[in-house]
Amino acid sequence: MAEPELSREEIEKLGRWVTAFVADHLTEMENRPIADAPLPPAELRALFEEPLPSAPQGIEHTLGDFRDKVVAHSVRVGHPRFLAWMRTSPLAGAVFAEALAAALNQSVAVWQGAPAATEVERLVLRWIARLSGYTPNADGVLTSGGSMANFVGLLLARQHHFPDVRSTGVQALPPVAFYLSPETHYSAVKAIEMMGFGKQAVRCVPTDSDRRMLPVMLRRAIRTDRRRGVVPVAAVATLGTTATGACDPIAEIAEVCAEEGVWLHVDGAYGGLAASVRGAEHCARGLEKADSFTVDPHKTMFVPFEAGAIFTRHSGLMPKTFGAHADYLPNANEDEGFHFRDYGPQLSRGFRALKIYFTLKIYGADAILRTWQRLHRLAEQFAALVVAAHDFQLLSKPSLGIVAFRYLPRAMGEEEANALNRAVVRVLQRGGKAFLSRTHLGKTDAMRACFITYRTTERDLPLILEAVREAAREVG
Ligand SMILES: Cc1ncc(COP(=O)(O)O)c(C=O)c1O
Repeated sequence: MAEPELSREEIEKLGRWVTAFVADHLTEMENRPIADAPLPPAELRALFEEPLPSAPQGIEHTLGDFRDKVVAHSVRVGHPRFLAWMRTSPLAGAVFAEALAAALNQSVAVWQGAPAATEVERLVLRWIARLSGYTPNADGVLTSGGSMANFVGLLLARQHHFPDVRSTGVQALPPVAFYLSPETHYSAVKAIEMMGFGKQAVRCVPTDSDRRMLPVMLRRAIRTDRRRGVVPVAAVATLGTTATGACDPIAEIAEVCAEEGVWLHVDGAYGGLAASVRGAEHCARGLEKADSFTVDPHKTMFVPFEAGAIFTRHSGLMPKTFGAHADYLPNANEDEGFHFRDYGPQLSRGFRALKIYFTLKIYGADAILRTWQRLHRLAEQFAALVVAAHDFQLLSKPSLGIVAFRYLPRAMGEEEANALNRAVVRVLQRGGKAFLSRTHLGKTDAMRACFITYRTTERDLPLILEAVREAAREVG
């Protein structure tokens, strides 16, 4: 039986096809629909019912299936009017870096197996920390994304408060509490559950009218817990909330946390670069005081999934939390080099840093920061259009490029308005002229536009409103 190999000519042919595809996909995005031919889930599933290929089907056949089945039924993330969730458009330099990283196939776990990749990751982490305005020499690690980074951040908090927890387990601990706000990303709650503390350890601290955590209420909640014999472990402040881009007052929260001996984790998965973006610097005030800090390059730096980052200013705490001896691997203190396996839950780890390294070297950090400045302005212009339109209502002040709003073509009750807006988003997500996601603000169902794609321009703004009106006509 033949080994699974391609000849050099075949590899080059495959590479030419891929290069042409990437170039076409990234440069023609705006001239194509956001989704070509959306199929109902059952029909799409049927398209991917195929027997296990025991024998080779060949490059051409496989590329044909990729084009006709995968591309044809993929949403064009990176389209100028794709504004749902937090999905950016990757830059070409980062896309090709992924292929190069795959070819080198470094597992960035132990230095001996990936010496240069380890150093690239360390360098990139220093660059990200610097761009974020966090402690430049903080310990850090790249993760799959913000959820994993938040999990690591809260594990660090647990380790800090309970240095023996890895031996005793959580059953030996006193009751604990973590402080979030209603706007905190759900991954923080998930992390608390995954640590074995359960939702009962979550305290929901109220916010002000701009959905920012109230430090005074945080202090009150911490003191109430302490009086009851509960150990306050960590507070999570958000730099750029998912729903509206709101920024918790980090400096004031840090003060409360320092006085009360509570770990402060800042979730800057989305807004983590604010400190360096002109006009947004104030959002990150006090960030350097955070005990741990999440920022996602796959949201903030125009690199493809997956890339998150977590930092802590507590030097040496990461290896205390994750380090372990393994006879078959180089070990800290015994074998030279720096081992990322001691900095997070993963052993095998992809060379995620290369796409960030390429992005910063090819395009420069200034271009990324300027783009964010433009996107923040675009969100403000969009909010002004919403306010000026007789059939729309603005629901949140634009913040860090996010706007929440709703379609309200006539006077109607809350329930009717909620149903209409939910239905409009459903239609738009089946492939309209704009792709939006939804959120809840109190009892109100809102649409949400996240300006995160560098391709979006002023020309797109009225078209987004038009797309909503068109979808509403379809809803009837
Ligand atoms: C504020 C915030 N934190 C964390 C996350 C989770 O990030 P990821 O999807 O990379 O796990 C998100 C995702 O949207 C987010 O908005």
